[in-house]
Amino acid sequence: MLEEEYNPPRELPAHLRRRPAPEPAFAYSIRDAVEADLPDIREIYNHYIANSTVTFDEDPQTLKELRAKFRHNAKLGYPWLVAVSPSGQILGYANVSPWKQKAAYRFTVENSIYLRAASTGKGLGTALMTELLNRSKQAGIKEVIAVIADKGAESSIAMHKAFGFKEIGHMGKVGFKFGRWLGTVLMQKSLK
Ligand SMILES: CC(C)(COP(=O)(O)OP(=O)(O)OC[C@H]1O[C@@H](n2cnc3c(N)ncnc32)[C@H](O)[C@@H]1OP(=O)(O)O)[C@@H](O)C(=O)NCCC(=O)NCCS
Repeated sequence: MLEEEYNPPRELPAHLRRRPAPEPAFAYSIRDAVEADLPDIREIYNHYIANSTVTFDEDPQTLKELRAKFRHNAKLGYPWLVAVSPSGQILGYANVSPWKQKAAYRFTVENSIYLRAASTGKGLGTALMTELLNRSKQAGIKEVIAVIADKGAESSIAMHKAFGFKEIGHMGKVGFKFGRWLGTVLMQKSLK
């Protein structure tokens, strides 16, 4: 018999036991994105390009492409928001872009929202979307369309539904990524 079995160590009473350190609260603030945020935004988006079907992009986005898009949207006065941790880390972003280039579509945008994987499921998407819709309305936008993959983006579909987006269409087999066909669900919300 081992000595510790013979004389088992005594356990400290509950009030003297070391408690695990409390989880740090999930804190963030939301502000307008600036060009210095683009490398972080690119890193967040490229993660989903490489690892998921929530975007149909397959090649990593370059900083040049992202900068051009950022400047174009800024010229239109469209909101582009980031959520930032207390230590300054970009946790996620949300923006809107023109739905189509043709002039009559000018009051209609497509929205986009991406969080760092570790920041999902904690209410941050809801906070960013709330602010994005408020700011879009202030910018004179009337209609917001979400184009969401019909596989692997269940949380996005659920979140858009919760914000009152209505499903307006479903396109089957319009994308092919990771060796399988994918469709898109179109959802629309009027900013009345
Ligand atoms: C989609 C995304 C922006 C949602 O943000 P989030 O912070 O994770 O979501 P929230 O915690 O604010 O939850 C909002 C709602 O989304 C839904 N939701 C969130 N996580 C979910 C999950 N894992 N499964 C199903 N529904 C989920 C719920 O309806 C939830 O509302 P509830 O908490 O009242 O039930 C975020 O998960 C994300 O960045 N995902 C990866 C990228 C992506 O899919 N972007 C959208 C491309 S169209």
